[in-house]
Amino acid sequence: MDTQIRHPMLVEANHDENVRQQFVHNLRLVLAKDISPLNHKIYEKKIKPAFIKEYKREPENRHEVRKVMTNDPFYRLYSATQRASQEMMWDSVIDSVEREYDNLHEKAAASPKTKKSSCEVTKDFKTPSYHTAADIHLQPGGYHWEKNENDISAGAVYDRSVFIYAIGGLGNLNDDLGRTLTNYFKEKYPNKSPKKILDMGCSVGHSTVPWVETFPEAEVHGIDCGAGMVKYAHARANYLDKPIHFSQQNAEKTNFENNSFDVVCSHIVLHETSTSAFKNILKECHRILKPGGIMLHLDVPNTDGMDPFTAFITDWEAYNNNETFLVKLRDMNWVSETVEAGFGHNKVQLNKSETYLAQKAIKNGDQPSFRTKFPILVAEK
Ligand SMILES: C[S@@+](CC[C@H](N)C(=O)[O-])C[C@H]1O[C@@H](n2cnc3c(N)ncnc32)[C@H](O)[C@@H]1O
Repeated sequence: MDTQIRHPMLVEANHDENVRQQFVHNLRLVLAKDISPLNHKIYEKKIKPAFIKEYKREPENRHEVRKVMTNDPFYRLYSATQRASQEMMWDSVIDSVEREYDNLHEKAAASPKTKKSSCEVTKDFKTPSYHTAADIHLQPGGYHWEKNENDISAGAVYDRSVFIYAIGGLGNLNDDLGRTLTNYFKEKYPNKSPKKILDMGCSVGHSTVPWVETFPEAEVHGIDCGAGMVKYAHARANYLDKPIHFSQQNAEKTNFENNSFDVVCSHIVLHETSTSAFKNILKECHRILKPGGIMLHLDVPNTDGMDPFTAFITDWEAYNNNETFLVKLRDMNWVSETVEAGFGHNKVQLNKSETYLAQKAIKNGDQPSFRTKFPILVAEK
């Protein structure tokens, strides 16, 4: 099992918790590498021919594939096991966090702060309904649950669980998506050196840290709806010696002034919002960007160029892991929504990028452990 880089905020698992976490990690590996590909074989050999026999044509889209695949016993067993692995993942990490609960706040309070780092939470913050309606990814209590005002357990649970969820594929600091976007930005805009950067929906700062590393002179901000997320992110970044200003804010309507950022970005956030929030966030990015500033949103794969089966299987998270808006977002026109939010139509692009770690492995002649192209919505104000 690959190891996650240790820092003082990362909860330490005891022997039994560690064995359980390793079991989930390995189960997810087998599901991804050995079991999931069998669904495609079954589709090609059994499900698609039966569909063609009945309708005299192939399934046209992922919704039609879904109707027939969800009746198949093998797919149902795969899907139930995948979901069980998700529930087991949270259980195995929550036990460690509960055991360390009292220490976490003390460790956070003792984290080395600088003038370039801060954390603000908002009293009576109104969590958007798309977070309270269902626990996204099945994380018990969601991103925002708090037992009291010192509670940072949601962040502690998230930090460790993401590593297991991604089977280590996001790197030992879970920072591959941040590295992918900073790398993309540097290649696309080699002459820009942003002075003020905002990461929306930063969670515990996994993707925010690479922005500080790439632009150490910049003032970097991270916002998130979850108070436990930003408080944990602040302590984590302090221990990693990466100064960042964190605050609990809704990306739909922030307290930042007009024209204040050179870069506003997000990493796998938009698909966990809603139709109106997606539109509001694009408008808010336009409002707070300086003229000439760049908006970048990296999100989970859309269906462009995907065959109906692949598009169906990549919808799994939406139907089984409470990422409900994903289904809708994949059918929306991201470019025209961005133009509607105020960006010039010739200033918006929807590109795709391999992840930083995959690019690195390919360059070294190695087989990437995880390979997918992420869409990146880019616009210049
Ligand atoms: C999948 S996590 C993103 C992880 C993080 N960006 C990263 O790359 O590691 C989604 C995060 O977005 C946050 N979020 C979703 N909607 C938001 C909104 N309207 N305003 C601020 N944060 C939001 C959630 O609270 C959650 O922490």
